[in-house]
Amino acid sequence: MMNFVWNLPTKLNYAEGNLKNVGEMTKSYGNKAFVCSYAEPGGGVWVVEEAVKSLEAAGVDYFLYDAIEPNPRVSTIDAGVKKFLEEGCDYLIAVGGGSVIDAGKYISATAHSGGSCWDYVILKERKEKVYTGAFPIIAVPTVAASGSEANAGGVITNWETNEKSFCRSEYRIPQMAIIDPEVFASLPRHITIDSSVDIFSHLIEHYLSSDAESEIADRMTEGMILTVKEMLDRVLENPADLEARGQLSLCSILGWSGLQALGRTGSIPIHFIEHQLSGHFDISHGKGIAIIIPHYLRYFVDAKPERWAKLARRVFGVTETDDAKAAALLADRVEEWFRSVDSYHTLTSVGIGDSHNEMLADDIIRMYGTLEGEKVPGARPMSREDILNVLNACI
Ligand SMILES: [Fe+2]
Repeated sequence: MMNFVWNLPTKLNYAEGNLKNVGEMTKSYGNKAFVCSYAEPGGGVWVVEEAVKSLEAAGVDYFLYDAIEPNPRVSTIDAGVKKFLEEGCDYLIAVGGGSVIDAGKYISATAHSGGSCWDYVILKERKEKVYTGAFPIIAVPTVAASGSEANAGGVITNWETNEKSFCRSEYRIPQMAIIDPEVFASLPRHITIDSSVDIFSHLIEHYLSSDAESEIADRMTEGMILTVKEMLDRVLENPADLEARGQLSLCSILGWSGLQALGRTGSIPIHFIEHQLSGHFDISHGKGIAIIIPHYLRYFVDAKPERWAKLARRVFGVTETDDAKAAALLADRVEEWFRSVDSYHTLTSVGIGDSHNEMLADDIIRMYGTLEGEKVPGARPMSREDILNVLNACI
């Protein structure tokens, strides 16, 4: 097991109907709240309305910044920083999915620390700025997916350079997450499916790429994957199954909180590939992940066959005792599962095709390649050719 420091300071506040408590639960965090939400909330418009009503009922002074788009943009976040300061806000409430919460986290920390949000993300060719603090952040997730409501991460997109990148900062960990399964029950079917695939991806990234062993991390990860599979079946059968919705939300939070990787942290190669896909083509992150996973698993099967085999046996019912053979079955089993829940997609089926793969591979190496050897971290370091082969298989 590796040495680690783990801290989950976010207060998780879970209840059916919790949305109506947002005002009372957040009013002590400051004098004026900056509420950020989607530009086009679609079916989730009632959630923002309810949250705002709750703030008004509790006498909270607020400014509503309903401008965040999916794959949140640097220009929108920097405009939000300006508004936050102009309006004299001193805490932030993010009501939305991973994009809104990520954007809110960057707005709060950048308003506190200065500059543009893009100054702080990781780009290979430069030394990024480091946050010096953040205003208090409260997250009200409307989707169970990113786990952003209780972690230090955040992914943003720069449409001027067509780059998507991220950074982590402890200052940006929300102080509280207000979780209400009734909110998730109104999600469209395809968002529930894409989100569950994203949770699955978070759970397998470190599991399959770590060089260290931590049995408790493995067991927690396997338990959460089994829970995601079972609960996704339940909510597809009955979207209003609040118990299953609540369980999925816990998998999304704990599955990307560091708990799933205690003692054996690895890397996130599937996300490294996907970020450029949705950074260029604006498809949903979960759909991009679903395109890549089966082919990543097939291509890199010989990188850590013992890890592939362990997951195949413990979660996907494989009984084969030979590691190499069991490992080879993992991609097929995952693909079967994806097909059974309508989440099997290809670059062709989402309208992207194969003509951009060389450019995507170049970008992934440029953004995430190590300075030594131009390889991207993964179950084994990925070369440009490896990445291109995976993308070409996604057709
Ligand atoms: Fe993700």
